[in-house]
Amino acid sequence: GQFPPGFKFGAGTSSYQVEGAWNVSDKGVNILDKFVHDHPTSIKDLSNGDVACDSYHNWERDVEMAAELGLDYYRFSLSWSRILPTGFPNKISKDGVKYYNKLINGLQAKGIEAMVTIYHWDLPLPLQELGGWTNPLIADWFEDYARVVYTQFGDRVKLWLTVNEPISFCDGSYNTGVGAPGVLSPDVGAYICNKHVLLAHAKAWRLYDKEFRPKFNGRVSLANNLLWIEPYSEEYTDLAELALQNSAGRYSHPIFSEAGGWPPGVEEVIAKVCLEKGYPRSTFPSFSKEEIELVKGTYDYYGMNHYTSRLIREAHPDEKLLPWPYGDAPDLKAKMTVSDKWPATVVPWFYVNPKGIRKQLAWLKQQYGDLEIMITENGFPTYHGLNDTARIDYYKKNLKQILLSINKDGVNVTHYTAWSLMDNFEWADGYTTKFGLYEVDFNDPKRTRTPRESAIYYASVIKNRSLDIPS
Ligand code: BGC
Repeated sequence: GQFPPGFKFGAGTSSYQVEGAWNVSDKGVNILDKFVHDHPTSIKDLSNGDVACDSYHNWERDVEMAAELGLDYYRFSLSWSRILPTGFPNKISKDGVKYYNKLINGLQAKGIEAMVTIYHWDLPLPLQELGGWTNPLIADWFEDYARVVYTQFGDRVKLWLTVNEPISFCDGSYNTGVGAPGVLSPDVGAYICNKHVLLAHAKAWRLYDKEFRPKFNGRVSLANNLLWIEPYSEEYTDLAELALQNSAGRYSHPIFSEAGGWPPGVEEVIAKVCLEKGYPRSTFPSFSKEEIELVKGTYDYYGMNHYTSRLIREAHPDEKLLPWPYGDAPDLKAKMTVSDKWPATVVPWFYVNPKGIRKQLAWLKQQYGDLEIMITENGFPTYHGLNDTARIDYYKKNLKQILLSINKDGVNVTHYTAWSLMDNFEWADGYTTKFGLYEVDFNDPKRTRTPRESAIYYASVIKNRSLDIPS
């Protein structure tokens, strides 16, 4: 399998997971800094991202690794508090901007494009104290921040992602209270966050479209985390579709569908559950006509993060259901399981089903039409060690499914981003589980990086633009 001409390969990281330097210069504190310091025991190895890979100081090595792999582009995120210490543009940090300029220029010098995520979960603490993603004004605050970064970096950055995985920082965080900002608000928080994040994304997209596209001609979207959900057995086909609408759909339909607004069926189900739970009305906010129009069509491509799959079935009456979306689907009265044909990995949420990525891509095309899709994350966890054949196998099988999707299903996939360029702070797992193509020695003050076998494999795929690698 040869990749089509123009297909691009990249690798990704995010600011909090790699940068460290949490309090250098005038950087402000963000919700991740605060959460890990206040709740050290919520991280498996009691670690935090204070130093992480120290990419703030090691960025030259990061660029060199990207070049060693032969990447067409490197996906990284901007730390809002590093650029705007107060969260607002009343003060722009010279050092913060300088850091990202060095990184972007360093990449450019090696012919590597930058794919920049504006927000990968590190909200400035002052904004959280005003409610964060539950305050409707966040849409304007985010737009203001976006203006700053488009202005500073837009001459060189042509691929933008506004937010990374809103389902993770809305549903994932408010439904469990686990992870920053540590606010448990089941039924309410996630849905308010969901709506506001779509408005924030839309405003940032429209700002680019109007003021920056004419001179810079770049492209903007968001990265959604799509968990592929299949029916446990045929009788649950409708349930699986509803679960997809409630996950992928709630963060895609308003932007990518022709009609706009919330996805079919979801508002009704949530309204019903809210009444059953004793709320006087639905906690799922509706969109006004103006809001539907504001959000609709605010994309230049679809950004898809994908890792794993689930099976869904109706729950038994007394079955214990874990919170959505990485546990079960309590509001759909449904249990999520996995197939015994899907190999387990070192992390409990991750089972390997390579066919899932192809089916997910086909679903997107069927739902939203013939969009350009960029895979903005895909990767595999291991423990310590350079000999990572299981990761190679995962990449090989997923890339094969992507080729089938392009060649057999006619899906317009144009970019593939391996997660991650290097081991990094893996959220609640700390440094115990590793997604890196490069291993990072976290006991070494220099945070030395060493290529794994998967790095050598990925470099040869990129070099040959093919999965058939001459030996
Ligand atoms: C996130 C990354 C994370 C990866 C592996 C993705 O959902 O965007 O930040 O490291 O999953 O857990």
